[in-house]
Amino acid sequence: MKIRKEKGLTFDDVLLVPRRSPIVSRQDVDTSSWLTPEIRLQVPILSANMDTVTEAAMAIAMARAGAMGVLHRFMTIEQQVRQVERVKRAEGFIVENPYAIDQEATLEEARKLMERHDVGGLVVTNGTTRLIGLITQRDIMLAPDEHLRVRDVMTLPEQIVSVPPDISPDEARRILYEHRLEKLPVVDRAGNLVGLITAQDLMRPQRYPHATKDSKGRLRVGAAIGVTPPEMERAEALLAAGADVLVVDIAHGHAEHCIKMVKELRRTFPTAQIVAGNVATREGARDLAEAGADAIKVGIGPGSICTTRIVTGFGVPQLTAIMDSAAGVAELGRPVPIIADGGIKSSGDLVKALAAGASTVMIGSLFAGCEEAPGAPVIRDGQKVKVVRGMASLGAAIGRKAVERREEESAESQEDWDKVVPEGVEAVVPYRGHVKEILYQLVGGLRSGLSYGGARNIQELQEHAEFIEITPAGVRESHPHDVHRM
Ligand code: XMP
Repeated sequence: MKIRKEKGLTFDDVLLVPRRSPIVSRQDVDTSSWLTPEIRLQVPILSANMDTVTEAAMAIAMARAGAMGVLHRFMTIEQQVRQVERVKRAEGFIVENPYAIDQEATLEEARKLMERHDVGGLVVTNGTTRLIGLITQRDIMLAPDEHLRVRDVMTLPEQIVSVPPDISPDEARRILYEHRLEKLPVVDRAGNLVGLITAQDLMRPQRYPHATKDSKGRLRVGAAIGVTPPEMERAEALLAAGADVLVVDIAHGHAEHCIKMVKELRRTFPTAQIVAGNVATREGARDLAEAGADAIKVGIGPGSICTTRIVTGFGVPQLTAIMDSAAGVAELGRPVPIIADGGIKSSGDLVKALAAGASTVMIGSLFAGCEEAPGAPVIRDGQKVKVVRGMASLGAAIGRKAVERREEESAESQEDWDKVVPEGVEAVVPYRGHVKEILYQLVGGLRSGLSYGGARNIQELQEHAEFIEITPAGVRESHPHDVHRM
């Protein structure tokens, strides 16, 4: 047995010491950072892979704002693949593999398919690569009867304006405007349908100039996977669907089976971007990086809904965990970014996490109250709230068993309930509106923080950062005090 001499510190234990600063305007600083050595985010924030935080709607909003979402893994492979596809289709100039329907389907079926995938139109292909027609929400709305067939109302090929795959966005915009159209099928020389351009998608780059996008102009998205052997199948399906990052996610990432999984993934998918975690030590971060991880997720027990430290007695206060992990990967000959996961309550915590050596942060509860997080808000004691739950909480663990049995709905037994030893809690958080508003506040705080640190970017912040430990009186002084809050 040994006791480490240095204290374990977390965000509230320290402040950053202000420095002489060349920054005149908060707009002069650069908040971008590496998520992995190949993916850079304008906003260095991830939404957590928790089932009350990130599904497609959150991932879309995060990527549009220049950040990124990581889809949770507590659903079947098919469900998670569908979530990736929704994000990938949400934007992008040409939608590949647009949703298709058979001409013999009813309008009711077409409407339901559009609603399910949240799209305004379908191509009619009868299962071939040939375009037989096009049907839009408007066609259905104006039709007298939903029992009519798609073929009765669809636009026919001779009336459809189509374009070649090498069309430029400007040219597509001109054609859409000239013909007063909303959708342009993309057809190759051989007459095969290869994609669809929509007026809405063309407008989006102007609306979201900092969006996190892949080389095809589609929003980027991460997806979590576990470490059991069937998860290789999940990984393959997610990558095939276009997931940009795989996040190997287990509570104790410094476990030999996790290291083995990372090695296996690296060997099977040499070019995939792989994040692994969670760890909280120098050795943990280094071992996962040596196994082939491109970035390391750090945090054992700092999360707002975590009880791991209470249940197991293990954990490292988050600021020390970030510093130690960053030091661990610095010993390697290649850059391996650190993701600080959990415990972020304010923009000040974000700045401290980055200054301590993280390249990005992952946030759960702070985003769980957002409109884009799964689940509807409820009213409790006159307040609008949303539910958040730890992924190792009782409810989440039971739900997971159902997924393992590949059921869509949980059908838990008393035995299931009795066997769970939770390491997380279920709670409510205030409803917080749209995530872009929270991101705006977080990024505003980060910009201001960079200016206090005399840093033009996150790298300079890290190079110059000087932390000072504070006392409980210092913590009290840091918060509003001796006034009555309005
Ligand atoms: P915040 O503080 O942002 O933290 O809500 C989110 C992170 O917490 C982790 N997490 C858990 N940790 N038991 C734990 O010990 C749990 O049930 C649990 N659920 C989530 C996870 O790393 C997440 O990103």
